[in-house]
Amino acid sequence: MNVTLAKTAGFCFGVKRAVDTVYNQIQKADVPIYTYGSIIHNEEVVADLQQKGVRVVEDLSQLCALKPGIMIIRSHGVSKETISAIEQAGFTTVDATCPFVKKIHKIVEEQSKEGKHIVIIGNNSHPEVEGTKGWVDGPVTVIEDVENSQKFHILDKKSVCIVAQTTFNYNKFQELVEIISKKGYDISVLNTICNATEERQAEAAELAEKSDAMIVIGGKHSSNTQKLFEISKKECENTYYIQTLSDLDLQKLKSVRNVGITAGASTPNTIIQEVFDNVRRI
Ligand code: F3S
Repeated sequence: MNVTLAKTAGFCFGVKRAVDTVYNQIQKADVPIYTYGSIIHNEEVVADLQQKGVRVVEDLSQLCALKPGIMIIRSHGVSKETISAIEQAGFTTVDATCPFVKKIHKIVEEQSKEGKHIVIIGNNSHPEVEGTKGWVDGPVTVIEDVENSQKFHILDKKSVCIVAQTTFNYNKFQELVEIISKKGYDISVLNTICNATEERQAEAAELAEKSDAMIVIGGKHSSNTQKLFEISKKECENTYYIQTLSDLDLQKLKSVRNVGITAGASTPNTIIQEVFDNVRRI
């Protein structure tokens, strides 16, 4: 049996950095450690951190009931006000915002200060977009779909600066930008889409195509893992979606020649390695 593990399987750079930040703080901090929201959409990692004493804070209203300590900001980032509110409540923030997201914060802050109307193409309720909005110093519009782009209208002849949520689909971004471009505003477009997701999906498709069975590892609620499963299933009928090794029926793979393995952006390396080693042993 040939077992191929996708090179892009698992944590992207920003998520790895954020998770490492929490484990580093556990090593050195002598005060309580919190993360603002789950550091990652993975039950195993969150449970492990919880067991090591790290608590998840869901919103600012919880702060007054907690003993101040270190508050780690996850890779999605948060608004400027959220950081100030956390610090005013006596906590020390450790910022693990992905540098690619941080770059968008910087762009929207600077461009809005120059008087531009900011357009964020993305999902309005996604934490990353919520955070990004909080760095805009002036008017901002979030555009999610074709209808939003068609309706987009600003009264004065302001310049418009368009950015994207890092995980937005590139073709959809192009389509929405094109609609806005026809409205006659002076626009500048900054493609801030991160290619980690795209690379992972392209590699999954390629691997699934040449595999007789494909294993996709990731949390049930992880949307990027679900997407990887759909992509793989399209190329390889024999695709399994598992959270950990215990979900996998190894017997089913016994007569298979080529097995491909990939994993969502929030799947820890230990889980991937365990699956890989066990499949190889068949
Ligand atoms: Fe950062 Fe891209 Fe991951 S923006 S968090 S490296 S998907």
